[in-house]
Amino acid sequence: MISIVGSGRVGSSIAFLCMSNEIDDVILVNRTEEKAIGESLDISNSIPGSSKFSIRGTSDYSKLVGSDIVVITASADGYQKSRTENIQSQVNMIKEIAKNVKEFCPSAIVLMISNPLDVLTYFFQKESRFSRFHVIGIASSLDTSRFRYFISEKFSVPQSSIDGALVLGEHGDSMVPIFSGVRVDGRNLMDMVDDYEKASLTSNVRNYWLQLRNFKSRSQFGIAKNAYDVLSAIKHNRELRIPASLVLGGEYGEANVAMGVPVKINQNGIVEIEKIILDQDESALLAESAKKIRKDIESVDI
Ligand code: 2OP
Repeated sequence: MISIVGSGRVGSSIAFLCMSNEIDDVILVNRTEEKAIGESLDISNSIPGSSKFSIRGTSDYSKLVGSDIVVITASADGYQKSRTENIQSQVNMIKEIAKNVKEFCPSAIVLMISNPLDVLTYFFQKESRFSRFHVIGIASSLDTSRFRYFISEKFSVPQSSIDGALVLGEHGDSMVPIFSGVRVDGRNLMDMVDDYEKASLTSNVRNYWLQLRNFKSRSQFGIAKNAYDVLSAIKHNRELRIPASLVLGGEYGEANVAMGVPVKINQNGIVEIEKIILDQDESALLAESAKKIRKDIESVDI
């Protein structure tokens, strides 16, 4: 069973993908129970006749019993200008959720979606004391989708022509698009862009969500599909290689901080942190990104 905490746009979109693709039973949890029930009733109508699964809405955390995966999309007050706005209330909220998840489904794998992503991944893991390989922050794969999108637009090629695109580090203003491994139709991206173009692509990827918000209030489908791909890999024990956030234990030179790094995921959660070669600039930017997340972690009153 999959439980999804938070039934806003993102939580309900993930639930919709789970039900329409017949992946498992879903419990949708929201502090306003009517909202969770309403979304569940609507999503129920997308269940194919061949499915053996169902969805229920609730505000009661005890219904999480039996969940093998918990997805957290809840937001305490929302944020407007930056993902780190309301960091204190988001952390307070995540610690409460962690207590409930620990009480009702202590063996679950947790997918963190709420922002500030890396900070909340860190605090959830610390509060729950779950294995760091079972608390997975999903966002760098979304940032990677955006990186691929801009490369594809710039060179007028389909996304299928692009290999090796990757965004690491914070899901925030210091995220690091990794140019050195990207090939476009077999050519090194580094040979196709100058410093100005690199800076411009980087800024576009970092600010995608703000640009999008000039047109709609929140991003929704991109993150929902990225989260669904991870759920599907776990449920079907299919190997998935993506960048995702977890508490690091010395990998990439960082410990006691969570940030996006390349990982391998299967039914057991994160089973490998992949070591990729970064150039000097990229390594320095990644260290800066870790520093920024650590500063945010330290700003929280615990
Ligand atoms: C995004 O990047 C808001 O973190 C969310 O779309």
